[in-house]
Amino acid sequence: MITKLVQVKGAETRQETKNREAALQEAARILQSGGLVAFPTETVYGLGANGLDEEAAKKIYAAKGRPSDNPLIVHISALEELEPLVSEISDAGRQLAKKFWPGPLTLVFPKSSRVPYGTTGGLKTVAVRMPAEDLARRLIALAKVPVAAPSANRSGRPSPTTALHVWQDMNGKIEMILDGGPVGIGVESTIVDVSGDVPVLLRPGAITLEMLEQAVGHVEVDPAIFKAPGENIRPKAPGMKYRHYAPKAEMTLVEGDLEKVPKAIAQLTEERMAEGLVVGIICTEETKHFYSKGIVRCMGSRSREETIAHNLFAVLREFDDLEVDCIYSESLPCEQLGYAIMNRLQKAAGYRKISV
Ligand code: TXA
Ligand code: MG
Repeated sequence: MITKLVQVKGAETRQETKNREAALQEAARILQSGGLVAFPTETVYGLGANGLDEEAAKKIYAAKGRPSDNPLIVHISALEELEPLVSEISDAGRQLAKKFWPGPLTLVFPKSSRVPYGTTGGLKTVAVRMPAEDLARRLIALAKVPVAAPSANRSGRPSPTTALHVWQDMNGKIEMILDGGPVGIGVESTIVDVSGDVPVLLRPGAITLEMLEQAVGHVEVDPAIFKAPGENIRPKAPGMKYRHYAPKAEMTLVEGDLEKVPKAIAQLTEERMAEGLVVGIICTEETKHFYSKGIVRCMGSRSREETIAHNLFAVLREFDDLEVDCIYSESLPCEQLGYAIMNRLQKAAGYRKISV
């Protein structure tokens, strides 16, 4: 298969606008006829297919190399599109949708009979999200079908935040990639299960726990978010059980006092380098001057965590390309957006950490 890569950002001149519209029309036709299109959202790039077409969903799993028990998020372009997909909307679900859609929030509802089990990985619930990115909503509206879309990476790779990342993982496997430039947020949407009595946070994201609780009161947190999957931990979001976002190198998180962490990482780096290993360091603006050895990459600024979320997956991918042997990463406080960032870092590290 030849994958078509089309630029859809900017659109300043009349010709550019025309080209963008033509590309969106073509992408919508591909979705309608059961094909796969990668498209930008405000969180990460998604790999879209018709969410009501089980055969199309199968193609997503094949292209990603993803286990088919891992359900897909169904994307909609307007609130009216929610009702046909679900059998019930709880008060909390309605309030959260009203407050945060369109935006980086996915809500899990009991599914209606219209949604095939092939899309929900056999579950009786369906995850729904209305993205804030205009291009994504335009595409869904043009396709006139709900669009099932996981992140557009090969399974186990960090989520793609640029069209180039998608190209690296999906070239030759899908019909089309819409290039809308780098995404804004950089970590995947917050997932909240609103199918029960109390909302449950299944995956932290840019809509923080604090924001959710302000909107609907108490929100439970799935204990699987910060624990390695195992016998007693069965995450409610099936995808959370896989070692996601995993760089090829062995990664270790270093936690503790900010005075001590850079020193410890610098010391570990020297030791590993003495063993002949290539070492990557993930740090922040505030700490980068501490490191004189190893391959140092800065995620962003501790005082603006959104810059860290934005760069995180690109840094992990870069270390894959550089073929480092091991990575040491600094940690952040597990609050607000830091909660989502630490969740991704812990998964990337396979929960390996050192406290200093
Ligand atoms: O930001 C995002 O959410 C991106 C963009 C493309 O929208 N999508 C994304 O999809 O991250 P994916 O497939 O990489 O992650 C979806 C997560 C998985 O962990 C999956 O197990 C969970 O959502 N999920 C989907 N349906 C579910 C359901 N019915 N119940 C519980 N978890 C569900
Ligand atoms: Mg994913």
